[in-house]
Amino acid sequence: MLLNGELVAIPTETVYGLAALARDPLAVRRVFAQKGRPVDHPLIVHLPDAASLGAWARVPDHHRALVEELASRFWPGPLTLVLPRQPGVPDEVTGGLNTVGIRVPSHPVALEVLRAVGDGLAAPSANRFGRISPTTAAHVAAEFGDDVAIVDGGPCTVGVESTILDLSQAVPTLLRPGGLPTEDLEVFTGPLVQGTTVAPGTLAAHYAPRTGLLIVADANAEAARLRDQGHAVAVLLATAAPRHARELYARLRELDALGVDFLVAEAAAEQGLGRAINDRLRRAATGSGRYDRDP
Ligand code: TXA
Ligand code: MG
Repeated sequence: MLLNGELVAIPTETVYGLAALARDPLAVRRVFAQKGRPVDHPLIVHLPDAASLGAWARVPDHHRALVEELASRFWPGPLTLVLPRQPGVPDEVTGGLNTVGIRVPSHPVALEVLRAVGDGLAAPSANRFGRISPTTAAHVAAEFGDDVAIVDGGPCTVGVESTILDLSQAVPTLLRPGGLPTEDLEVFTGPLVQGTTVAPGTLAAHYAPRTGLLIVADANAEAARLRDQGHAVAVLLATAAPRHARELYARLRELDALGVDFLVAEAAAEQGLGRAINDRLRRAATGSGRYDRDP
């Protein structure tokens, strides 16, 4: 199906991806149509191995040693590198940018599909634009019904999207905290700051539940206060533990389905996977149903 230009949802270790043959502009356009995603948001190209990188991206001389180090340490795995693109990469993939995001996923099924296809697969998270990312095949089916074929590889083991590092400029920049802790990267890059130029597609509102989501310092106290006012409330306590990253989106979906008035979340420590968890919680809160709270 992929070689015919059709879409297939595939498991990765981070989240399920909605994959299309990256060389085929028409196939890539189908991804945007299916997701309802604006076409200027670039897609990540997934490759079967680091050796295929040169066909898609150029590695600037001053970052060559760093790219080799990061690729050998962290690929396959939840790290995306943004690099200058090769001329043949379709504009549909890069959103017209002169850079391209590349990653080698570690999920054995993703790798098997990539090797069978023998080429790059463009794959955003397999959810409708702005909604919660899928970490099981059932989540993908809930997003797209029978419209999309799904390869079921079980629940994702990391559970939050890849960490995105921009190496297209002189100074390495973090574009998105993710499944590879920032601290692990900083061993090789030095201290990273989050990019001030927002990557297209990293919108403030994203991963949004329909229920209003609040992030507070003491979730149980806030929940008690809201219940006293007669509201139905569900509580989400996050920590930086890998299990909380793995279960974050499934929990958000479950709690959203309860039909309560408010979801009240407590953020994780801002370290390790806690950075990615908090980043997603903040975006989810921004896009969630309105919380009309008295001053
Ligand atoms: O873990 C992941 O990265 C998952 C799985 C499926 O691999 N994919 C994923 O894709 O999260 P998506 O499309 O939901 O998010 C891709 C992010 C967007 O924020 C986009 O702006 C950024 O990657 N991105 C891709 N190419 C870029 C580029 N050339 N420059 C800057 N940002 C880029
Ligand atoms: Mg996404």
